[in-house]
Amino acid sequence: MQTTKQPDNVRLREDGRAVMILDQTQLPGRTVTLTLETVAQMYDAIFELKVRGAPAIGIAAGYFYAVLANGVQADSYQDFYSQCQVFKEKLNASRPTAVNLSWALNRMDAVAQANSQKPVAEIKKLLLQEATEIQQEDIRMCAAIAKHGLSLLKNGDGVLTHCNAGPLATSLYGTALGPLLLGKEQGMHFKVFADETRPLLQGARLTSYELDRAGVDVTLICDNMASIVMKNGWVNACLVGCDRIAANGDTANKIGTSGVAILAQYYGIPFYVLGPTSTIDMNCKTGDDIEIELRNPAEIREKWYTEPMAPADVKCYNPAFDVTHHDLIDGIVTEHGILRPPYTQSLATLFK
Ligand code: MRU
Repeated sequence: MQTTKQPDNVRLREDGRAVMILDQTQLPGRTVTLTLETVAQMYDAIFELKVRGAPAIGIAAGYFYAVLANGVQADSYQDFYSQCQVFKEKLNASRPTAVNLSWALNRMDAVAQANSQKPVAEIKKLLLQEATEIQQEDIRMCAAIAKHGLSLLKNGDGVLTHCNAGPLATSLYGTALGPLLLGKEQGMHFKVFADETRPLLQGARLTSYELDRAGVDVTLICDNMASIVMKNGWVNACLVGCDRIAANGDTANKIGTSGVAILAQYYGIPFYVLGPTSTIDMNCKTGDDIEIELRNPAEIREKWYTEPMAPADVKCYNPAFDVTHHDLIDGIVTEHGILRPPYTQSLATLFK
């Protein structure tokens, strides 16, 4: 199977009036493509994780903005722009943690504002171009992260990953899975342990699916088995993605990531975060400034089961992400290279 083929997870319909996404909630059992035309459908696609993974959310948001703007009937720029603002606010409220969402929407908004003197028809074209450029940049970003990340691994290494930061979450290799897929193309072999990632099972449904299809040796484990595979000496490095990196290196990623990092430190295993600069939020000083999404308790109590596995009224706490303290992170791999601690310094230098 060709691993570097651009996935069809997010794409613009040729007429510029709809966005086509691969519904990630249906994988691996069914391959379902959805056509999204309205802001309600687009909001739902992000909220329900039909399109998910920080970079893919950003790419989708860029196309969503462009398609919605394309459909606006307005006589003046003011009318046009105020309708774009309504769409932007609605989409921005769909999920709070991955900064790529607001990053992409703000970037689209900046194009709409910077071209306010031009005819609306021309601004619509520029917005479609900008959204396409966001996706093209993502493809280049994935290739660069894969290359930098691969320099941290040796042939034969055991690697543990959490959630899904693969092609489905981006437009090419993914971030955390990038080095593994690139290495595979170069004839290297890794033994990957994929945490199943309760409650939404991105590791089981998506990571093991993507790695298996690419011919990478992958073993699926439950989240509570990470410690034993580390203790057994089977893990040489942990690679994870990210949803928002604060200015001090604290990193929000899928719930359970910080536990993996704590275990890795205990067992002396390097723990790396891989993500594009669009996931770094220099406006967040520390992880405490990152909003953590809370999701529906039903995801814990009954989703995936044929009957509920907990009392119907049991209290549940269902945060979608947690923050890994920067002290636990051995390196942050971006498209520009590998940042090392102290991150306050290395991140500030990157953004200079
Ligand atoms: O809730 P999800 O599935 O969108 O969470 C995804 C993650 O936590 C990923 O690790 C992160 O977005 C990086 S994807 C390259």
